[in-house]
Amino acid sequence: VTRSAVTGVGSFLPEQVVTNADLAAIVDTSDEWIQERTGIKQRHKARDDQPTSDLAVEAARRALIDAGRSPEDVDLIVVATTTPDMTFPATASIVQRKLGAPVGIAFDVQAVCSGFVYAMSVADGFVARGLAKCAVVIGAEEMTRLMDWTDRTTCVLFGDGAGAVVMEPREGQGTTADQGVLGFALRCDGNKTDLLYVDGGPATTGSVGHLRMAGNQVFRHAVVNIAEAVTAACEASGLQIADIDWFVPHQANQRIIKGVGDRLGLDEDKVISTVATHANTSAASIPLALDAAIKDGRIKRGDMVLVEAMGGGLTWGACAFRL
Ligand code: ACO
Repeated sequence: VTRSAVTGVGSFLPEQVVTNADLAAIVDTSDEWIQERTGIKQRHKARDDQPTSDLAVEAARRALIDAGRSPEDVDLIVVATTTPDMTFPATASIVQRKLGAPVGIAFDVQAVCSGFVYAMSVADGFVARGLAKCAVVIGAEEMTRLMDWTDRTTCVLFGDGAGAVVMEPREGQGTTADQGVLGFALRCDGNKTDLLYVDGGPATTGSVGHLRMAGNQVFRHAVVNIAEAVTAACEASGLQIADIDWFVPHQANQRIIKGVGDRLGLDEDKVISTVATHANTSAASIPLALDAAIKDGRIKRGDMVLVEAMGGGLTWGACAFRL
């Protein structure tokens, strides 16, 4: 049985750090409110001259080094982003050029904060069918460019960053002991587009627009539905929740992470959280958190990992893989 396996992980955060105190100087908020309601202490912010593709390329380079691969090996690039450099070409095309990867397959996936899980499922299909041998899946976002800096209910929640994984084929016995991706559960409920969206776009206002969110309703939707998707992804993978060594959730809010964990009865020590230092980096948050927990020695090769996310669309989903 050929499965796609995550063979390398890397991430990149832009240098500039914006603290809660920095935000309290521009909107009516406080470090105390932000930390208590969200768990966020700071976020990173890209320079004006540092587009999403730059963050993506650096994360991709690091993931390729981790996998022992070079840009010449890359035959598929999937970028999950909701903040592309341009309306077109796809950010993946720009990443291919900047990375120095050869002519191959490259495109973007847009599922907002769930984008990385969706993008992994796409690359998994290519790799498992033999259409790609060295895929780079990147979540890269500059959410700070979508903020209305007069709206305290949203501008404190988001940050910029990128994370990437390399996915390659691995032969195995077809059991859950093999390295590789085991299963997915992906969802979208398009009736809920008005809960979380950007009020601009080329075919509406002709402008980029700002992020708008009905925070309370998104929150309520998140806990119940993410938990359902995690359970479904485990079922699709032939796993019990207890078989998972590490949960790497999308990092939107510590209360959502805790709510999902409580609903599923997870041991808090198995749940990776980087929301305090990264804030919500949308499609980048999962590979950023995965990389952080590998680098600090918690997640090791051979561990069973479950990633889950929810975002605009509303989209949500989960994926289980043995690293
Ligand atoms: N600083 C100070 N006060 C604030 C701030 C702020 N930054 N933002 C809102 N408030 C005020 C509100 O105006 C309100 O005041 P009022 O009672 O006088 O009207 C009060 O705080 C409470 O507001 P709520 O919206 O009820 O606060 P809540 O506890 O729901 O927290 C939050 C808001 C953090 C947005 C929460 O709803 C949430 O986390 N929702 C999930 C949404 C999310 O994380 N989305 C990310 C994108 S989707 C995803 O990635 C999953």
